[in-house]
Amino acid sequence: MVKAIPPGGNWKSIPLDIPSRRLSQIRRTFLSGNGSRSTYYGRLDPDMPAFTISTCINRPGNGCYIHYDWEGGQHRLISQREAARLQSFPDWFAFQGTRASVNRQIGNAVPPLLAHHVARKLGRPGVFVDLFCGAGGLSLGFKMAGWTPLIAVDLDPSAVATYGQNVHESVVAGSIEDDAVFEALLEKVGELRPSDQPMFVVGGPPCQGFSTAGNRRSTADPRNSLFRRFSMFIEEARPDGFVFENVPGILSMDRGRFFGVILHELSKHVAGVSHWQLAAVEFGVPQRRRRVFVVGRRNQSGKLSPPARVTRLPDGQSSLDGVARAISVREALSDLPPLVAGEDGSHLDYVHAPEGAYQELMRRGR
Ligand SMILES: C[S@@+](CC[C@H](N)C(=O)[O-])C[C@H]1O[C@@H](n2cnc3c(N)ncnc32)[C@H](O)[C@@H]1O
Repeated sequence: MVKAIPPGGNWKSIPLDIPSRRLSQIRRTFLSGNGSRSTYYGRLDPDMPAFTISTCINRPGNGCYIHYDWEGGQHRLISQREAARLQSFPDWFAFQGTRASVNRQIGNAVPPLLAHHVARKLGRPGVFVDLFCGAGGLSLGFKMAGWTPLIAVDLDPSAVATYGQNVHESVVAGSIEDDAVFEALLEKVGELRPSDQPMFVVGGPPCQGFSTAGNRRSTADPRNSLFRRFSMFIEEARPDGFVFENVPGILSMDRGRFFGVILHELSKHVAGVSHWQLAAVEFGVPQRRRRVFVVGRRNQSGKLSPPARVTRLPDGQSSLDGVARAISVREALSDLPPLVAGEDGSHLDYVHAPEGAYQELMRRGR
């Protein structure tokens, strides 16, 4: 199947005589007009940024994860190292856990470069607490912008191990819904909080309940109550501000009512709340991923403008207006070694010196 798909191509290039239930299903859905499924069985286009790197990078039928180098015979899915790069995790960042867990950690993360641009909008860097920290994409971006992690929490022990090794040692494995964990965290924050620096609470509660992917968009999803815990934590910890991050699907859930509730709840704790939908591809990330950020500031009622984009997708018509062209998949990955299907390759050396600023950034030490 994979050999039949050229760079930038998808399931439509797969010969009809290759039997696959998944393909038959995709073809049926397509013919009935229920979505193009244009990224399914997708092969990356080397000259464009990637599509969203989800938690399913091991499933060709669920997205665009086939390596771009068709002529070079790279008939395989991208490796975890390559996926992490498309998420802007530097090469020194070592994910912990099983293969499935690492896929989840990579796919769930906020691209650190995007988080970095968000953090830089918040004024003088201070300290931050990350609820739902995962592997630490959001936190790493904050660190890159000069912020210091205070403490973090996540339910998943593997994500906690990754966070502890790569971002900050002070991270709790537990559920924020557990009152004992919640209270212990609050107490610790009270002890550690410096008096001379701003403190922000950041976090991206699990998004499956809000995501348009899958059919689980429901206010009844128990995971949506995790938002309430986030809000409660802000009420009790009284930080100088917060950053709530989520998937764009949150905007349209319940015809926008759910997002209205979120803004209303979060507004109670601060003087001003702003929200932005940002495209990672406009912030130096080689990936078309969108995320929603709600930013609250305790003492500033004015709206905060979104960060200025630094890169943009060429659209063929307008000029780039002085903004650099978005980073392509080739610019992101070309120095990584060729692999056979299923090979991890994270221990293999680079094939050449870094080509361009993105590869230099990814290869820079801690
Ligand atoms: C979207 S991911 C966060 C990604 C992270 N912000 C990053 O940039 O890497 C959501 C995380 O919430 C965690 N989580 C789910 N339920 C939780 C709970 N009850 N308490 C704490 N963490 C929880 C999951 O394990 C997952 O790592």
